Amino acid sequence: MSQPPESLVRSLFVRAEAASLSPVRSLLRDASLPESDLREEHMEAFFVSRAGDEGILACVGLERFGDTALLRSLAVRADARGNGVGDQALQTMEAFAASKGVNRLCILTTTAEPFFKARGFERCDRAALPASVQASSEFKSLCPASAVCMFKEITPTSSTEKHPHG
Ligand SMILES: CC(C)(COP(=O)(O)OP(=O)(O)OC[C@H]1O[C@@H](n2cnc3c(N)ncnc32)[C@H](O)[C@@H]1OP(=O)(O)O)[C@@H](O)C(=O)NCCC(=O)NCCS
Repeated sequence: MSQPPESLVRSLFVRAEAASLSPVRSLLRDASLPESDLREEHMEAFFVSRAGDEGILACVGLERFGDTALLRSLAVRADARGNGVGDQALQTMEAFAASKGVNRLCILTTTAEPFFKARGFERCDRAALPASVQASSEFKSLCPASAVCMFKEITPTSSTEKHPHG
């Protein structure tokens, strides 16, 4: 197998900007993930990885509901997968969520359950999550009912901030 480009190995996540919305949505569409509800405000709690002039390689977002948060929109461009970028995205978002006082992360996934299981997430019933999370657009209408719900307890590194998007 050929070596991944060095830019991938060194890939770093930075906070997204309002202008990231369009490339993020396009990356999510290519990865068959929900994106129609995303607005510029969501980018305040999104991270992206850029590699030189290649555009956005990966993204990940967070939607806060008090001390529980929905980790969403984790996607790595198809030709960049398998190089640890997804893992780095998850670690970046876990640290960000912890810094915002979040103590529980949840996700919905149709295809990546083994990826999250290997990283400490456990399956749970949607009904076990706070009503606010269940009422989010991703839970209510965007993700198919067949999507697996998973959660992971994390240790907050600050007290909960009151901000809708993190
Ligand atoms: C899931 C995803 C983000 C992983 O990104 P990545 O950069 O390939 O991940 P990494 O290189 O850090 O990790 C790859 C590891 O996860 C495993 N893996 C990745 N995707 C997987 C999947 N869909 N099912 C099972 N295992 C998967 C790989 O086998 C590899 O295992 P290893 O660490 O034991 O070698 C990427 O496959 C993706 O964008 N998928 C489509 C969107 C999606 O399903 N997102 C999750 C729901 S929000």
